[in-house]
Amino acid sequence: MDAFTYRGESGARELGADGLALRAVADSVGTPFYCYSSSALEARYGAFAAALSPARARICFAVKANDNLAVIRTLARLGAGADVVSGGEMLAALKAGVAPANIVFSGIGKTAAEMAAALDARIGQFNVESEPELERLAEVAAARNQRASIALRINPDIDAGTHEKIATGRKRDKFGVPYDEASALYARAAAHASLQIVGIAMHIGSQLTRLDPFEAAFERAAKLVETLRREGRAITRLDLGGGLGIPYHNELPPSLEAYGALITRIEKRLGIEITVEPGRWLVGPAGVLIARVIYVKHNGEKTFVIVDAAMNDLIRPTLYGAHHRILPLREAAADAPLETVDVVGPVCESGDVLAFGRPLPKLEAGDLIALMDAGAYGAVMSSAYNGRPPAPEVMLKDGRHAVVRPRLTIDALLARDVLPAWLG
Ligand code: LLP
Repeated sequence: MDAFTYRGESGARELGADGLALRAVADSVGTPFYCYSSSALEARYGAFAAALSPARARICFAVKANDNLAVIRTLARLGAGADVVSGGEMLAALKAGVAPANIVFSGIGKTAAEMAAALDARIGQFNVESEPELERLAEVAAARNQRASIALRINPDIDAGTHEKIATGRKRDKFGVPYDEASALYARAAAHASLQIVGIAMHIGSQLTRLDPFEAAFERAAKLVETLRREGRAITRLDLGGGLGIPYHNELPPSLEAYGALITRIEKRLGIEITVEPGRWLVGPAGVLIARVIYVKHNGEKTFVIVDAAMNDLIRPTLYGAHHRILPLREAAADAPLETVDVVGPVCESGDVLAFGRPLPKLEAGDLIALMDAGAYGAVMSSAYNGRPPAPEVMLKDGRHAVVRPRLTIDALLARDVLPAWLG
């Protein structure tokens, strides 16, 4: 299901998608820029929904993976709900057209103001992560004469076997309530007329490349549902979070079919409404970051390819040591010699490396490259570090392109700051 492929005359094949060569988009938009393929978003959502259709699962796109309104709306039109973790993400989901009833509010630090806004918007579910949050939500809802639908997020103490920074289901992680305390907390929630318990939730981590941690965590969740039901609680929903990995390099994540079958088994066993919160799987491979080579620099044994995208645009390699494949926009000949290089940005930190020790066909100043699988946790984690406006975002559809988040001008960047009176 590769969205971005080489096409054209042999010897001059160019990377493209949705009937467009990315070079043409680069000429029009300038580099660096993120580029999303509508057909890829549609195909991925369709495949995901098909794999989970026997489970009749509700798919709530994890907006944290990509909060561009055009991306959210593309998915919402296909039927996606949204998993949000802040008032800001909630507003983005609403603005993009997600039905409030299909919005799930996750996160460990919801403020009273965010709770009030979410209640006013009539969102479908709060995933509550602690006792103090439960009490706060009960108060805020009572003050507005409303009833909040809640699921308790459980920490199942399962190691997702993923990168340390994105594993969320171990006892030592800050997420969820301890498994053994869930029952007592449900009793507490039941005492509040302003809360309606609808289910339990969990999310054990992101970029999972094995099925067994999912299996172990879902089994724990299912057991808890059974226990709570024995205790007389009407548990009608089970939110299994996101986390299904994608192949960035040589990983072999579980197939969508195996993941769907696992969830279907849980659904049939419990007779329960399933929600899932995929982010990366839906949008990661549907986006690329396009950059242009500024210089090629030889320092003794090392060759640095200096490009115009940097860690402020794509921080995953710096932050997690993540691997993003790099393809030149003009396809290299099959027998082109490879050179091992570091692909780096202009930011003044040695950590500003987009690819370390990467064998690539020879690149020269002016060449265009694509950093692949950058649709998830790419643009959304960008910053203006080093006075660099983050890369703009472009969406492709049926031979057309649209700039869906323009490049900020330096003037706009500077206009964010206000001088105090004493410096005026
Ligand atoms: N639900 C919850 C409660 C989450 O915390 C997350 C991700 C998801 C769903 C979506 O997970 P996904 O399907 O995308 O794996 N910045 C990191 C990833 C952070 C993930 C945080 N939570 C990265 O670039 O790899």
